[in-house]
Parts: sequence; C-alpha cells; structure tokens
Amino acid sequence: MRTLVKHALAATAAGNAITVKGWVRTRRDAKDFSFLEINDGSCLASLQCVVDAGTPGHDQIAHCTTGAAVIVEGSLVASPAQGQKWELRATRLELIGQADANYPLQKKGHTLEFLRTIAHLRPRSNLFGAVFRTRNALAYAVHRFFQERDFVYVHTPIITASDCEGAGEMFRVTTLKGRAEDKPEADFFGKPTFLTVSGQLEAETFACGLSNVYTFGPTFRAENSNTARHAAEFWMIEPEMAFCDLNGDMDLGEEFIKAMARHALEHCAEDLAFFAKFVDKELMGRLQFVVDRPFTRVTYGEAVQILHRSGRKFEFPVEHGQNLQAEHERFLTEEHFKSPTTVYNYPRQIKPFYMRLNDDGQTVTAMDVLVPGIGEVIGGAQREERLEVLLDNMKFHHLRPEDYWWYVDLRRYGTVPHAGFGLGFERLIMFLTGVSNIRDVIPFARTPGHAEF
Ligand code: 4AD
Ligand code: MG
Repeated sequence: MRTLVKHALAATAAGNAITVKGWVRTRRDAKDFSFLEINDGSCLASLQCVVDAGTPGHDQIAHCTTGAAVIVEGSLVASPAQGQKWELRATRLELIGQADANYPLQKKGHTLEFLRTIAHLRPRSNLFGAVFRTRNALAYAVHRFFQERDFVYVHTPIITASDCEGAGEMFRVTTLKGRAEDKPEADFFGKPTFLTVSGQLEAETFACGLSNVYTFGPTFRAENSNTARHAAEFWMIEPEMAFCDLNGDMDLGEEFIKAMARHALEHCAEDLAFFAKFVDKELMGRLQFVVDRPFTRVTYGEAVQILHRSGRKFEFPVEHGQNLQAEHERFLTEEHFKSPTTVYNYPRQIKPFYMRLNDDGQTVTAMDVLVPGIGEVIGGAQREERLEVLLDNMKFHHLRPEDYWWYVDLRRYGTVPHAGFGLGFERLIMFLTGVSNIRDVIPFARTPGHAEF
C-alpha cells in the first residue's frame, strides 16, 4: 500500500511501516548514509528519507539523483531536522526511473518563462504543484458552490454554429480541405461551425426549464491578443438563473468570488502561504479583504465620470460610449475604490445583442466584475426576455433572427426575466494565487503561435 507524502507528514504516531513513491528532489550523502528528499505532488513539502549504507537498494543510491523516481519503504520516526515532524528511516530503496544530469529541473530557481518551455516537467516544481493543487481545489469548490444552491450542471456543446458574443473571434471547425468558407454546405455539419466562445445561449434554454443551471467547461477565443490574461483556450463557469434580474446576478457573482476565496483559505493553506512568500506578498491581505468586505458597485456612467475626474493620463482616452480598457478597469479597482468593483448598465452599442435594454433606451443590463491585479473576471447580464425588443436588438447588431430561431423561441413560449454571467476560471485562479500570467495557471497554455505539448 502506498502512502502519500502528505499523509505521512500528517501522521499522528511514529513507527508505522509505510511505502512512499515519488521523485527525488535532492540527495545529500554522508559517510554512512544518504538523505533523499522525496516529493510526490500530494503536498508542497517533501519527505526526508534516511537511507543507511547497507539498506537493501542502497547500492543504487548514486543513481537516485534529482528527478529520479523511487520507492522507499521504511518507518516514520520523529525528525530532528527543523520544520518537519517526521522523516522516513528506510528499510528498502528501489530505483524505478533514472533521471540523468540533463534533467532540466535541477534544484535552483527557474524563471517562469523557462518553465513554460518545459511545461511537461513543470508540474514537478514547487510553484506548479501549488498552482495545480489550488486549481483542483477550486474546481471542486465551483461544483460545491452551485450544487449546494440547487443549480443543475449542464454540459453545453463545444462545437456550435452561433457566435454568442458576436465578436467574430471563433475558431472554425471543419473537415474540408482547402478553403472551408467556399462550400459550407459540403462540410461535416452542412453549415459553418466553430468552437464555442460561451455556453450561455444553450444554458439559457436549460434555465428556462430547470430554473437554475451552470456550465463549467472549455471555451475558445481566436482573439489575437498576447496579454497576460488572454488565452485562446480557457475554462469558463457560466451560471444562468430564471426569474432573476441584474441585482440578483450581481449578488451571485459577488457571493461566488467570496466563496472561492474562502474555500482557498480553508483548504489550500500551505500552497497559499507559498504564494504569499514567493509570488505575491499582498495575497493574504487581499483574500481576507475579499471575504470580509462587500464589493463596490457603480454604473458605467459613474465609472466614466470617475475616470475623467481622476486627472490621470491613460494610454487610451476614456470616452463615454466606448469600452473600458484594462488600464481603466484596473484604475477603478486598484486605485480608486481599492476593492473588487462591479460596473453595470453599459452603453447598448458596446455590448452583445442578448442584454436587456434599460428604460433609458441607451444602456443595457450588463455587469462586469473587476478585481485588483487582473481587471475583468466576470462578464454577465440580465437577458432581454421581451420578444419585440430582442428582435430589435438583433437588428441593431446586424444579426439575423433566423440564425438564432431557437433562442428567439424562448421569448415566444413562457418567457421569463433571467440573468447569468461568465467567469474566467484562469483569471479567478490568478486572482486567488497572485500568479500574474494566465500561461502559468493552465496546464498547457494555448496562445497565439503556441500549441506545444
Ligand atoms: O465577458 P465575456 O466575453 O462574457 C461572455 O462570454 C458571456 N456570454 C458570459 C455569460 O454571461 N454567460 O467572458 C466572460 C469571462 C470574462 O470576464 C473573462 O474572465 C473570461 O470569461 N475570458 C477569458 N479568459 C481568458 N482568456 C480569454 N481570452 C478570455 N475571454 C474571456
Ligand atoms: Mg466581457
């Protein structure tokens, strides 16, 4: 039976005969024995193993170099070393897989840029072990959050014929050779198809039947933006609620982010302490702030006024009616409010067709949640439930209702006010770990020009 290092280190009594399996982080040799630090990814810490000369397998010790895979049997004894309660006194050592001196993760600090070039090995580093354990814990927390609130998990399609966001940033899916756009009727699905940019439209159909639903799946955007917060493939969480308005939507978004911060604090303490020490000194204060304090809410109109009055020189000027740029968003949340900030009621022309038109005829019930260090993590809205207004909106955005006939049908049969949002899972992880590049919180990043691994 294998014991994970994290369970070995959490043992309550010495003496148990156990077997650990993992990879050598370091080896130090003394005259009559060697120390092996074994890490198996179950926690940040490694387990120190003491292998006496003469222990079965000790003849292989010279090959137990950094990166090698080994099995060590032995018993836990109280460790005299600082900072660890237990060490393993080996009774048997077995070398499973060697790693020669070319192993790129020799024990020394590596840059994140370098580690991206060895994305197949970086899960064995402290930082990436911590990031992906945290990502795992948060994925579980996402389901827990919604399941505890009676939301139904829906698997929306990955291949789709509709551009939800209307931004034309879609990857084409085709089996045709040559120029697919010339003969879409001959293509696999008989029409142009793409990788989804959002499961929202399909989620709406399920919300209008199952009441509260959510999706959590891969999402694709062919936007050619080489920034630290854009990936071509990322994971999005999209709740959708029937009988819900913009306020309920903003409440859920805020509650959700708070719950994720709380879960990380409660379940990822060791990894968060590592991030706080090596990645982002302000992390713990920020997480506690997120848990304790309400988010700020402002309308788009108020936000633009604040930006104008700030006297700040921005690279992109702030103009009423234009999208807020990342620098504007970050000014609001990092400098002006110094708190996560929900901006709502955006101008109609800069938001997609499905958002509900306000009584002023100019703005729609959009909401974006902005957080320090990242900017936008959530984009959502109350949806337009009135058939005539929706058709008008589609015209306004130059869309053909017949392309969205099933979506429009929802407004014909038992239409209901409903709302939802999309949250970029990687951006949430960046916010909750302090890791500042999206490429370092997703196992294998897909960005313009990069699809290795
Ligand atoms: O604001 P967006 O485009 O909203 C939607 O797609 C809606 N249909 C969601 C909904 O209402 N159900 O995207 C939602 C979030 C963004 O706030 C951001 O966190 C993330 O998805 N996101 C990205 N994350 C990483 N890389 C990209 N290229 C992203 N594009 C959006
Ligand atoms: Mg958005």
